[in-house]
Amino acid sequence: MSFAADVRAGLSRDPKRLPPRWFYDDLGSRLFGAICALPWYRVTRAELGLLTGASHVVRRRMGKPGLVVELGCGTGEKLALLLEGLLGPRERTRVALVDVSREALALTASRLAVRGGLSVQTFRADYRVGLGSALLQRARGPALVVFLGSNLGNFDPPQARRFLTRIRRALRPGDGLLLGADLVKPEADLVLAYDDPLGVTASFNKNLLRRMNDELGAGFDLDTFRHRALWDAGRSRVEMHLVSCVSQSVEVPGARLTARFRRGETIFTEASYKYTESGLRSALGDAGFPCECSWIDEKARFALSFFRVP
Ligand code: AVI
Repeated sequence: MSFAADVRAGLSRDPKRLPPRWFYDDLGSRLFGAICALPWYRVTRAELGLLTGASHVVRRRMGKPGLVVELGCGTGEKLALLLEGLLGPRERTRVALVDVSREALALTASRLAVRGGLSVQTFRADYRVGLGSALLQRARGPALVVFLGSNLGNFDPPQARRFLTRIRRALRPGDGLLLGADLVKPEADLVLAYDDPLGVTASFNKNLLRRMNDELGAGFDLDTFRHRALWDAGRSRVEMHLVSCVSQSVEVPGARLTARFRRGETIFTEASYKYTESGLRSALGDAGFPCECSWIDEKARFALSFFRVP
């Protein structure tokens, strides 16, 4: 669906909702990069800390990959670190990057160009479509699919299972999956991670309103909305919302829509599901990935898991 179609559908329904993929225009991708550097958002640092050790194990278990596919590449920092441990100094491989953000793809490709010896293809697409195209780049040797940064957490549990199953079906014997997933932790830590004292996450969220103004000619007054993050323990997810502080109507010409808000009404912009260790194991096992190795950062409560298709 296009941005205009998602906005029209999402702001016409009750409760209002927008898919999180629209966060990642150029500015949104940079704001997400800033979130990853925040002390309160520990996902990225925890994962970086686990990746070098994991990369050596992956290399021992599956040999040199002929293709590395990253779903959701962000700034490319994690992939660069992973490749350092996966490949010897002069070894070459193919890399396929899948992301909805042009900025993320360009940033990652230029970071990888510094290393040399990598043939990099980019796919500006959602994960489902991009995965199929990326795996067509297979060369000799196994393929490693890399799905890091708790990106799985932005799927609801049935979608997550379906997507893991889709990955499993696309893989062949000898291929591997490296997955990073954020775990349940105390509520105060989760809320701080998604409502940081510097207001970076609030800007990331409100950037959606700015994007609707710029791309769809909408008339959102950003000062009349505030960011809200809350932990829903029953659903095991952090929710992000944009709360309208006043009752108002906003024209969105590019989506052929007048969006009406009650005071206090919200747009639900993102769900980030957090896994228990056993929940993660069963979601993966059900999709056909019995756990082979996992590494956990106990302080940040973040897990990296690796599977090799027998
Ligand atoms: C990209 N994704 C896994 C992040 C998350 O944690 O759900 C996006 C994010 N939203 C707010 N902070 C980070």
